[in-house]
Amino acid sequence: MWFYKNLIRPIFFLFDPEKIHYFTFRSLKFFFKIPFSNFIIRSVYHSSDQKTSRVVMGIKFPNPIGLAAGFDKDAKLYSELSDLGFGFIEVGTVTPLPQLGNPRPRLFRLPKDESIINRMGFNNKGIESMVQELNKNKNKVIIGGNIGKNKITTNENAHLDYESCFEKLFPYVDYFAVNVSSPNTPGLRALQEKEPLLKLLLSLQKLNLQLSKVLQSTQKPILLKIAPDLTEEQLLDIIEVVNSSNLAGVIATNTTISRQGLKTNIDDVKSIGEGGLSGRILMKKSTDVIHYLRKNSKRYFTIIGVGGIHSPQDAIEKMKAGADLIQLYTGFIYEGPGLIKKIKSELIKSDL
Ligand code: FNR
Repeated sequence: MWFYKNLIRPIFFLFDPEKIHYFTFRSLKFFFKIPFSNFIIRSVYHSSDQKTSRVVMGIKFPNPIGLAAGFDKDAKLYSELSDLGFGFIEVGTVTPLPQLGNPRPRLFRLPKDESIINRMGFNNKGIESMVQELNKNKNKVIIGGNIGKNKITTNENAHLDYESCFEKLFPYVDYFAVNVSSPNTPGLRALQEKEPLLKLLLSLQKLNLQLSKVLQSTQKPILLKIAPDLTEEQLLDIIEVVNSSNLAGVIATNTTISRQGLKTNIDDVKSIGEGGLSGRILMKKSTDVIHYLRKNSKRYFTIIGVGGIHSPQDAIEKMKAGADLIQLYTGFIYEGPGLIKKIKSELIKSDL
């Protein structure tokens, strides 16, 4: 972690965040083409300690630390990312049609807060491209398929987009994440309201059953990814909907639209404009959501805890609040891949 934080990160942070993202992508792809590179990386970052493996939702995870959605949007790097030590990779958010997302700049670092603001807007190459990429999953990396709707699709027709992605990804993913919580697609978060949400989830469960029969496989666990900005009343509605649609669980949480508690100069924050805030600043808010869901649901459902994990202590806190699995995004950018191994060894020590 010292090497990344003191040598690599300062250089990366001199450049535009989105350009560095694609540069890192290409560099990793290139590096992993060198013979035996994956063995070298695995020996540095991987620990195959059986103590970190666990079965959640009927899936055997080599460890409970996943990469959150938005990093590998088009499923182009999941194999390499899994060699860095992640136990599972959530790809997407994918939409039926390819789309460019919002105009640039749309990704901003807040180093004083170890946070990020993004308004990417589901830029992705579309479902057909993702299916082609996932067809190459030779190492059987555990994949979550995070699905969404195109910007041009109205909320009334949103279910058609989710269904289309669900159907096409069904043979290739281990679980589904239904994303209705991104702040960067206008109106999307309205789908978190009780009535449209239940309708959407019931239609996906119906499809789940049909596809499992046709393909003679088990049904796929479906999780709902929620925002950290919901009121307690809305969270109670979420619990009710999750239970009545018999979902496997919840991913808590996506980015926040709040700007409270930031150390970064307020004018600088204002000049960035709209977008979802992630990173250290989100830790408490998203952990509170996990805690609330766990405390208030009578039925046990899986919770994937995500938001602000930058240290093994943060990971442990999320699990103690009720998360079965965790995910990283911003912490991975700020701390580097060494964070995954560090979390694993602390989880083993703390018997979690
Ligand atoms: C995200 N996130 C995200 N989530 C999602 O469900 N679909 C997506 O396409 C994206 N895209 C995305 C892009 C960027 C640049 C960031 C920083 C984040 C949200 C992400 O998966 C996660 O829920 C939050 O970032 C909170 O976790 P961290 O970043 O604090 O660990």
